[in-house]
Amino acid sequence: MLPALQKRGSVMTAGQHPTVWLTGLSGAGKSSIAEALARRLKAQGRAVTVLDGDQLRHGLNRDLGFTPEDRHENIRRTAEVARLMNGAGLTVIAAFISPSCADRAMAAAIIGAAHFIEVHVSTPLAVCEARDVKGLYAKARAGRIAEFTGVSAPYEAPLAAALTLDTGTLALEESVERLCRHLQQLP
Ligand code: PPS
Repeated sequence: MLPALQKRGSVMTAGQHPTVWLTGLSGAGKSSIAEALARRLKAQGRAVTVLDGDQLRHGLNRDLGFTPEDRHENIRRTAEVARLMNGAGLTVIAAFISPSCADRAMAAAIIGAAHFIEVHVSTPLAVCEARDVKGLYAKARAGRIAEFTGVSAPYEAPLAAALTLDTGTLALEESVERLCRHLQQLP
């Protein structure tokens, strides 16, 4: 299976539309960055779409839970969709916890490593938990949600992300600005 993925990735050429892959804890700010970046790129005339874990889990991935196997399948399907969208001329912004290094490497292999841009939204657990926008951390601490990332399931930080953005210290506009600068530098 792996050689096929590598072959498929290798036929893609420079100038291929990229996938910006935002990984980080629940509440880290992935979705806010994704939406703000999409607005900015659209204003520049780019064709852009956002794939958001929380949203895809209401449709395409509604049959999946949060076991390591289901998260793996969630990322695999999403990467396949991103690959198709990139090929159709869209810049994809994917916002997924994607806690496993191996699963993110799989996504890079499916999409094509040359245009997979891994961005770590590194907002610390304490900040995400203090925000607790959806009340999920409180439920996880109370034992009412199993396998909750950062509480009762692991998060493996990227070892070599293209960019690291901590929304605990960076304003949303600054995060988007840094992403735009990075995208402009790409071949
Ligand atoms: S993953 O790990 O990439 O498959 O997760 P993802 O598809 O991004 O979905 C994350 C959103 O699901 C909600 N949620 C949970 N997250 C983590 N662990 C558990 N157990 C869980 N249960 C529900 C949560 O709202 C996540 O949304 P975000 O936008 O990340 O806060």
